This record gives sequence, C-alpha cells and structure tokens, in this order.
Amino acid sequence: MGKTIVAPSVLSADFADFGGALASIEASGADWVHLDVMDGQFVPNLTFGPQLTEDLRRRSSIFFDVHLMVEMPGRMARAFAPWASAITFHVEATAHSHRLIQEIHDTGVKAGISIVPSTPAFMLDEILPFVDLVLVMTVNPGWGGQEFIPECLEKVRYLAEQRQKRGLDFLISVDGGINGHTAPLAVAAGTDVLVTGSAFFTAPDKADFVRKLKGE
Ligand code: DX5
Ligand code: ZN
Repeated sequence: MGKTIVAPSVLSADFADFGGALASIEASGADWVHLDVMDGQFVPNLTFGPQLTEDLRRRSSIFFDVHLMVEMPGRMARAFAPWASAITFHVEATAHSHRLIQEIHDTGVKAGISIVPSTPAFMLDEILPFVDLVLVMTVNPGWGGQEFIPECLEKVRYLAEQRQKRGLDFLISVDGGINGHTAPLAVAAGTDVLVTGSAFFTAPDKADFVRKLKGE
C-alpha cells in the first residue's frame, strides 16, 4: 500500500491539556490523531465523549481516527460522526457489524472494524469488503503503556494476504505498544497505520520519532 500513516493517541496525553496535545501532534508532522473512547463497560477504563472531539475539531482539520471501545457502538457512532474522519468499533461489541458500517458510511465518515488480541482475524472474513480500515489491537484495550503482543502480527499478515487475494483496499492499523522497535515489525507484516500513545508522548523529539516510524 502507500506510505505509513502515523496516528498518535491522545490517551497518553495530559488529560488537563488536550488542546496542547493536539497542537503537539500537528507540529510533529504526524498524519492522524487517534481518539480512544472507552465506556467503563467494554473496557474497564473511562475516557471522553463526543464533546471533546467537537471541541478539538474546532481547532483543527486533521484526520480524526475515532476508536470506540464501547458496548452498543451504534449509539456512540452517531454522536461522534459530525466530528470524526473515521469511526472504528469492535466486532466483539455488536452482532450487527455490517449494519453499523452502513450507518457510519451514511454519515459520510470512513468505517473501521477492530479485534482484540483473543479474536481471530478470520472473524472478519465476511466484513472485509465493506470496511475502510481494520484495526488490530496489539495489547488488550484499556490503557496506554502496555507491552506489545508480537503474536498479533500473524493477524496483520493474514489480513494483508486476504486484501491482496480478494482485491480489497482497506487499511490495516495496529494499536498498542508501538514504538521504535515494534513499528518496523508491524510495517513488515503489512501495516499501513501505526497508532502510538506513550512512545509518542515520551519521545524527546516528536518530529524525529514520527519520521523514524514512517521509515524516513
Ligand atoms: C489502548 C488504546 C491505544 C493506546 C495505545 O487501549 O486503544 O490506542 O492509546 O497506547 P500505547 O501506544 O501506549 O500502547
Ligand atoms: Zn486505540
């Protein structure tokens, strides 16, 4: 596929300064902003809702990659749609992925589907022709700063192979434990989008970190 997309996650930012986090992501040369929405149900942690996304949207036109880690994602997807560029939800959170993808597309937003580490990639076989993005979790969702699970890259390879064999064109994203060491492994497996939280926000030189992830 094309050039690697870097998507820093505001989950690892100072929650009292999301505006500053957005500015630092834009200044770094990163392509997308990743917004981790957690409801305290699908995952134990709780983050933020559509209001923050709306307020950030007023400050920037950068691509907003909304990652819904919530039960009943349909309800939340509607609330985020006016401010999001892409909305990704978990296949484990709804029986009706196909319908929800259609509903997201009807709002003019790109639609993505995600799997947690214990879900096999073949669970997505039927839905792949309909999505713009597949997000492979490489940690158990809930918190930033966890250790990358290397076995999940086998799923990236499987998805890249399916994409090629079936002539599909979705992007493959990885999320969790991505840093200067794990990013090249993910890209070699077929990843297009690198989500990065703690490694981005602790990098002494963010622009340099982004260039490194992009392989420049
Ligand atoms: C984890 C979130 C990730 C998280 C990644 O539940 O979905 O997007 O922010 O953070 P790091 O890069 O620190 O693992
Ligand atoms: Zn995420």
